[in-house]
Amino acid sequence: MGFYGPKYAKRLYLGWKWKWKWKSPRHLPLRLQPCPLSKHSSNSNSVMAEEAVLGFLQTKEHISDSHEFAASIGVSHTELENLIKSLKGFQIVDAQEITRESWVLTEEGKTYMVNGSPEALFFSAIPPEGISRSNLKEKLGAEIFDLGSKAAAKNKWITFEKDLVKRKVESVQDEVKNVLARINSGEAVGDQVINDLKRRKLIIKQTWKGYSLKKGPKYVSKRKKPETDLTREHIVSGDWKNLEFKEYNLNAEAPQIQAGYLHSLLEVREQIQNIFLEMGFEEMPTNNFVESSFWNFDALFQPQQHPARDSHDTFFLETPASTQNLPEDYLGRVKLVHESGGYGSKGYGYDWKREEAEKDLLRTHTTAVSTRMLYALAQQDTFTPKRYYSIDRVFRNEAVDRTHLAEFHQIEGLICDRGLTLGDLIGVLEDFFSRLGMSKLRFKPAYNPYTEPSMEIFSYHDGLQKWVEVGNSGMFRPEMLLPMGLPEDVNVIAWGLSLERPTMILYGISNIRDLFGPKVDFNLIKSNPICRLGL
Ligand code: PHE
Repeated sequence: MGFYGPKYAKRLYLGWKWKWKWKSPRHLPLRLQPCPLSKHSSNSNSVMAEEAVLGFLQTKEHISDSHEFAASIGVSHTELENLIKSLKGFQIVDAQEITRESWVLTEEGKTYMVNGSPEALFFSAIPPEGISRSNLKEKLGAEIFDLGSKAAAKNKWITFEKDLVKRKVESVQDEVKNVLARINSGEAVGDQVINDLKRRKLIIKQTWKGYSLKKGPKYVSKRKKPETDLTREHIVSGDWKNLEFKEYNLNAEAPQIQAGYLHSLLEVREQIQNIFLEMGFEEMPTNNFVESSFWNFDALFQPQQHPARDSHDTFFLETPASTQNLPEDYLGRVKLVHESGGYGSKGYGYDWKREEAEKDLLRTHTTAVSTRMLYALAQQDTFTPKRYYSIDRVFRNEAVDRTHLAEFHQIEGLICDRGLTLGDLIGVLEDFFSRLGMSKLRFKPAYNPYTEPSMEIFSYHDGLQKWVEVGNSGMFRPEMLLPMGLPEDVNVIAWGLSLERPTMILYGISNIRDLFGPKVDFNLIKSNPICRLGL
């Protein structure tokens, strides 16, 4: 029957089909598209390249290969590529990506192209009468000697007679050197030759990415630099009629503004606060975390032996440990109602102790504030109906885990008026929760020491496809209200829920320590979207 503690732990209320609305972009003001032309105009090379490309396309159908074109006008392909991208962006040209493969010489291949192949060098170094291996090796160096002797022997250019190396033919053609030169100048050569050279690692394949170009739908032979702003001068002189204006790029991201951001809990709190205000509720002053047991428990008809009043469930203060300043008359009536009842109640029949009521604690619910407010209302000469709400911090000595901290925020609403019924409570709950986006509600009888009847509030969660508890509610008992001095026909309907739970659901946070406390990531707060409840 513990009104909080482990059982209460399960009662942190789930939010509902709360929906997002993204924050209006922080990227305002809109930024103009980067201007590729102005980027290039400082560079005479690209001005020249642009003239060349547009000029070429004026008379010719297309540019078939951007690499060749870049080489022909003497700019690097990278430079030309940047220009092509800009021209394409403005639809001045159509660019198709092409890939081209070509063979290029390796370092070794280049050396042979210049100096001749090892086999040719080997052959040339043999005098007509022949030469000893050792002398030839000395002449050529070990590497050329080894490579050359193998290839020359394979070509049947040479013979070995004991230690002597001799020519087998009169003269040779250095085909390797010739074909390397042809490949180097871009000529196509036969597959067999390519395979041989590839095997000897004298050439490798290179893939080029390039473009073929033709006129785009907005082709012009000379590009005008688009204006970014319409100025007074343009209007006065009338030259705006002939100018091209750059279009706004509505998708451009501007730098993030470094400003203060609201914590997610505060964002949701504001939304809920607005709901209460729309429903005509006034905010209660909740700016006292420290409360006496009297206002937190006794005035709520919560007996002094109740397990919630144990230090395992509640944080008691060492200094100041107690509050002596309590409303004496009222305190007397509270003592009586606990001990022997009255107002139609039997009471609890125990010996009520003032020291227990004086003990200071960190308030365990904001219902302590509601109680103070109702008491203040009862002290007025004429009763005025009231709708009160609060959203503020409460403290419970709970084991900290993924969904529980020893402190959380409680949302509380109450209506105090003549002749209120359980039907009114159900009606107002349906109104309140539907504004939060929870329109399917069910109620289950429950127990609170200070309400009778009491109801747990459940709502159908479309996402989880089940009924989940979203709050606790009830009608304050006569044992609580009548000792305050409220008129007999005045009833109070009230309900409470936590702020953290719906916020966690809204922001997709599964560990409460990511939402509250020293482990919170500031970037999360910066980048969180705002929420709009109940839309
Ligand atoms: N004080 C209750 C709690 O902490 C919430 C509540 C408020 C219940 C008002 C009923 C009426 O759970």
